[in-house]
Amino acid sequence: MNRTHSCGELTKKEIGKKVVLNGWVDTRRDHGNLTFVDIRDRYGFTQVVLNPETSKECHETGKKLRKEFVIRVEGSVRQRPDGTVNEDSKTGSIEIEATNLEIISSSLPMPIETSDKKQSTEETRLTYRYLDLRSEEMQKNIIARHRITKIVRDFYDENGFLDIETPILAKSTPEGARDYLVPSRVNPGKFFALPQSPQIFKQLIMISGFDRYMQIARCFRDEDLRADRQPEFTQIDVEMSFITEEDIFEIHEKLMHKIWKEFLGVELKLPFPKYNYDEVIARFGVDRPDLRFGLELVDVTEILGNAGFNAFESVVAGGGIIKGITVEGKADFSRKELTELEDFVKIYKAKGLASLKIVNGKVEGGVAKFFNPKALDELKNKMNAKENDLILLVADVPKVVNDSLGYLRSHLAEKLGLIKENEWNFLWVKDFPMFEWDEEDGKLKAMHHPFTSPKKEDFDLLEKKPLEVRSNAYDLVLNGLEIGGGSIRIHQSDIQAKVFKALGISEKDAKEKFGFMMDAFKYGAPPHGGIAFGMDRMIMLLVGASSIREVIAFPKNKSAMSLMDGSPSGVDAKQLKELGLKLDLKK
Ligand code: AMO
Ligand code: AMP
Repeated sequence: MNRTHSCGELTKKEIGKKVVLNGWVDTRRDHGNLTFVDIRDRYGFTQVVLNPETSKECHETGKKLRKEFVIRVEGSVRQRPDGTVNEDSKTGSIEIEATNLEIISSSLPMPIETSDKKQSTEETRLTYRYLDLRSEEMQKNIIARHRITKIVRDFYDENGFLDIETPILAKSTPEGARDYLVPSRVNPGKFFALPQSPQIFKQLIMISGFDRYMQIARCFRDEDLRADRQPEFTQIDVEMSFITEEDIFEIHEKLMHKIWKEFLGVELKLPFPKYNYDEVIARFGVDRPDLRFGLELVDVTEILGNAGFNAFESVVAGGGIIKGITVEGKADFSRKELTELEDFVKIYKAKGLASLKIVNGKVEGGVAKFFNPKALDELKNKMNAKENDLILLVADVPKVVNDSLGYLRSHLAEKLGLIKENEWNFLWVKDFPMFEWDEEDGKLKAMHHPFTSPKKEDFDLLEKKPLEVRSNAYDLVLNGLEIGGGSIRIHQSDIQAKVFKALGISEKDAKEKFGFMMDAFKYGAPPHGGIAFGMDRMIMLLVGASSIREVIAFPKNKSAMSLMDGSPSGVDAKQLKELGLKLDLKK
């Protein structure tokens, strides 16, 4: 028999039994006469004793063992001597006295330190990912991912959802990133796009009558990478017919409840609070606010827009706004700290960060002298600023004010340790605008995607005031991260055509790109809507990892490359020729 037990299984119950274990050498400690070897597999460790009095051969073979050799050990289970019991380990009260030891395969010295990831750079960890995955932490993360995936699948199955696969070789879907393209050899000059999401297919599945669809779907997006973004990532993708937004919220609150309960043993409080997009932008500056701390933004345009300070007055005269954050008890921030904060808001295009402080009941500090005293008094009241508080202000166009103060808010909370670490702060953000202005392209773009339904009462604004149109789109936010997003869709071809028009997509282009979809809507389209969750992000939060790369077995690095297999890589001239492609690379 190859093995009778795993390395994490044996306890006092098996004392006296003959067993066979297989696994990797985790540590080897040579005590002269006795050698101790910890043998490891994904289930745990077991201590093996090599005693020349029991088996001379085993003791000799033991001298050749090195870290990460794969071995087979036969022996009997015995109680560890008093004082050597390890209470922290499941197998800590027993050891195996080896009667037979076999080296199955040897190992080169390890290029990374699997017991402490900080000792290796992420680059080497990714290059030797198959070894990195042997570490306790990565094993824990990968196993957690499996557990969570199982909980998710069971939940949807219990609720009547069908798991339906959709194509990977497909047509471009408009999620707003660049596509990964795949050339077709059989159809020269033609390309597939890897799906940015199964969006179009899941809507077509509704038209086919499968009213509850789910898929754990791989998505591909060529976009700038961050700690919570990968070029290929996984969504829990869902679509439902004959439902309202509320139905989607309710069922997915139940899903979150089940995951948190079964995986973490945490009881989430339902329902999750719901906020309008306009409200979260007004109060927190960003559309995925972290509500584990205060530091709310306060609009003081009325008070400071005409109060003596030139820089602010001209901003407001030009249509801008002024907002501020009160930081409790931080009137004593140093010049250096304030400069650091000012540099921080400049990343988000703010022109400056004005600061005021409350000392002896009065508003003082750098810019105080520019304002009339009455305005300063009103400011203090409106900002609810108390003795020794600091007020930070930005004046600019709304987007810059909200972005810069929104990110500053989180930056301050982290700097001041205000984030309650053990809290799971879920919220829905809804009623997003349908469109936003794309400065780069100088045209409207869909804030969610072009299949999102505008609110019925705003249909009339589509042509005249598109920027005022609100949509039936929503996001689920957890601790300041967007973990999911979706919408109720358009199911009427005339409204869809109007939305394409507002987006500057010509009738011809719309027909070419989405004609099949618009045709489908003419054959009895049920009202429908859905959502997709960033599975990697969710798992990252559940296991407490700092990047989604820590919960993906084989991720890409920050330059969208796989260091392990060296992809993407060049291809043969023959392959290019078959595809009818020529490279034209800029030096
Ligand atoms: P959206 O584009 O908002 O919606 O994506 C849904 C969720 O997927 C996660 N996500 C990512 N995770 C890792 N790396 C990425 N590059 C990445 N991009 C997105 C986020 C996000 O909330 N088809 C729509 C869904 C719908 O309307 O039903 C869609 O894809 O957590
Ligand atoms: P200035 O008069 O331009 O030297 O600015 C005086 C102070 O006001 C500096 O601390 C600037 O950072 C701040 N300030 C100037 N313009 C703005 C603005 N638009 N928003 C916030 N603070 C500003």
